[in-house]
Amino acid sequence: MVGEESFWNKYGSYYVKGTLYTLLLAFVGVLCGTVIGAFLSLMKLSKNKILKALAFVYIEYVRGTPLLVQIFLVFFGSNVIGLDLSAIASSLIALSLNSAAYVAEIFRAGIKAVDDGQTEAARSLGMNKVQSLRHIVLPQAIKNILPALGNEFVTVIKESSVVSVIGVSELMFQSGVVQGASFKPFLPIVIASLIYFFLTFTLSRLLGVAERKMNNA
Ligand code: ARG
Repeated sequence: MVGEESFWNKYGSYYVKGTLYTLLLAFVGVLCGTVIGAFLSLMKLSKNKILKALAFVYIEYVRGTPLLVQIFLVFFGSNVIGLDLSAIASSLIALSLNSAAYVAEIFRAGIKAVDDGQTEAARSLGMNKVQSLRHIVLPQAIKNILPALGNEFVTVIKESSVVSVIGVSELMFQSGVVQGASFKPFLPIVIASLIYFFLTFTLSRLLGVAERKMNNA
């Protein structure tokens, strides 16, 4: 393609910046999401009816409404309660809260997949509930949980594109800027798609390698 090199010289920095923002959003989103999600899954597994119900409502609500809507809720909601969060802060919060609901299910499924006999054996050896979860169940559950968390990271890299609607300069937003500046509607989006693909494909390959290592260990 003619002028390809000058296109990259002109607009490459937009994509570099956008990619860094995208990675930051996804990384922080999944990291905070994992912490909150772990608590949610414990709440859901607990015997306490109120904790269980709270976690249930939260998880179902978050998974049952679009991420786009949640981003607007946090962004404009923070304004209503006088917090006036910036676009990037709102996005990080919305992505974390969103990811937490999905991670909670990842944890719950991972823990449930460990045979009840494991807990029963641990309890019969005199361990209490927390001990058996910590020393017997979680070390086995982690084999199911880690790969799924990796997939969640891949998902959030893609989903983070939605925060461009409130003006965070991640990859999709920057592509819009380049579209406007270059008067080209198509090429900037093709480049964005290739960068997303490079990120997610590389990551899932790495995850595959890590998973195989873990299963052989
Ligand atoms: N695009 C969907 C939505 O807007 C899925 C979000 C998935 N999020 C996640 N953290 N896995 O609701």
